[in-house]
Amino acid sequence: MNNKTIDDIQVAGKRVLVRLDLNVPLDGNRITDDRRITSALPTIQKLLGDGGRLILMSHLGRPTGDPASDSKFTLKPVAQRLSELLGQPVELVPAYQGEKIETAVRALKDGQLCLLENLRFVAAETIKDKKAADNPEQRQAKDAFATGLASLGDVYVNDAFGTCHRDNASMLTVPQLMQGKPRVIGYLIKKELEFLGSAVRDPQRPFLAILGGAKVSDKIGVIQSLLQKCDRLLIGGAMSYTFLAAKGHRIGSSLVEKDKLDVARQLIDLASDKLWLPVDSVVASDIKPGIDTELSGSDIPDGLMGLDIGPKTIEVYRKEVLAAKTVVWNGPMGVFETPPFEIGTMAIAEAMAKATGKGAVTVVGGGDSAAAVEAAGLSESMSHISTGGGASLEFLEGKALEAIEILDHR
Ligand code: 3PG
Repeated sequence: MNNKTIDDIQVAGKRVLVRLDLNVPLDGNRITDDRRITSALPTIQKLLGDGGRLILMSHLGRPTGDPASDSKFTLKPVAQRLSELLGQPVELVPAYQGEKIETAVRALKDGQLCLLENLRFVAAETIKDKKAADNPEQRQAKDAFATGLASLGDVYVNDAFGTCHRDNASMLTVPQLMQGKPRVIGYLIKKELEFLGSAVRDPQRPFLAILGGAKVSDKIGVIQSLLQKCDRLLIGGAMSYTFLAAKGHRIGSSLVEKDKLDVARQLIDLASDKLWLPVDSVVASDIKPGIDTELSGSDIPDGLMGLDIGPKTIEVYRKEVLAAKTVVWNGPMGVFETPPFEIGTMAIAEAMAKATGKGAVTVVGGGDSAAAVEAAGLSESMSHISTGGGASLEFLEGKALEAIEILDHR
């Protein structure tokens, strides 16, 4: 992708509509991980420094339309954190069109910014284009919402990598409506495309992929795609047990997707010897902190479930990581949020940090694996941690990210 970036435009005195992904995890009002906010700072600071008048937009969580339960999805804590990080006021504007928003935007001076309240408080933001195609009322609602947003900006900037796989109004309809005005990507998307793109297009070899997480069904596309490109693919997490069951192993009461056994068999055939599965597992009767555990080989006794990769697997996987020149990792190796089932995931994070130190390019897909790396205190030791869970998977799968493709190119 040869997208134009914020370096290709002039923003002084202009109203710059900036779509960000500030969808951060919250514990009540407390932001538990502000990486998505800090990752947006370079773009915000560049645009402010160049004299733009910024209208920031984001979603947070998945509001349902019930005002009482949706109030927890307010962007108020995000506006506060942003203001602290930037050292300047960030007004949270609880409107998308009408007098309030016009006043807020008109009041902006060069180098100032405001943040619109959670876009998903308006149902039209998330109407799917497919659904809207069969339903004129829905199409009209989505277009009307997007038209209001589009009228706020002279320039459109997308730096919301984590949302680029969504056809939300602010991601697709708004830039479509702003055709003829500059529509560019920010530094975060540029960086994501560089790291994820070069990993899959032109990787230094050996190129190792590590995929974990609960379900094979979430990862079929990315496994198929990475198998064409990588030299070795290591599997961990609960999805290992669907693969092991497909190979005829006993898996006790481990999580298994029975309807995906055939797909798992096909992937194993497609991979020949490229796809490696755990040779041992940490097993227990339940997922409880501190519960008694045992070790099993590739077969797990009845009544026990596999909850982490075992020490032999850790050793094998660690060697592969240390021998690789490019490593892409998405998905934890076990139930890492419940000790003692974090050991395999942390061992992968540590091995990747060592590999980075030896000159390898290490890329962590977003979501849980990014959280694990953060918990291990190793974020700074990776070449790149993607801010997109679903978006990075779709990109690695080779799917087009339309929200980026429709913007201006060189
Ligand atoms: C994410 O966290 O993956 C993005 O912010 C997109 O959120 P969504 O899955 O609710 O669309």
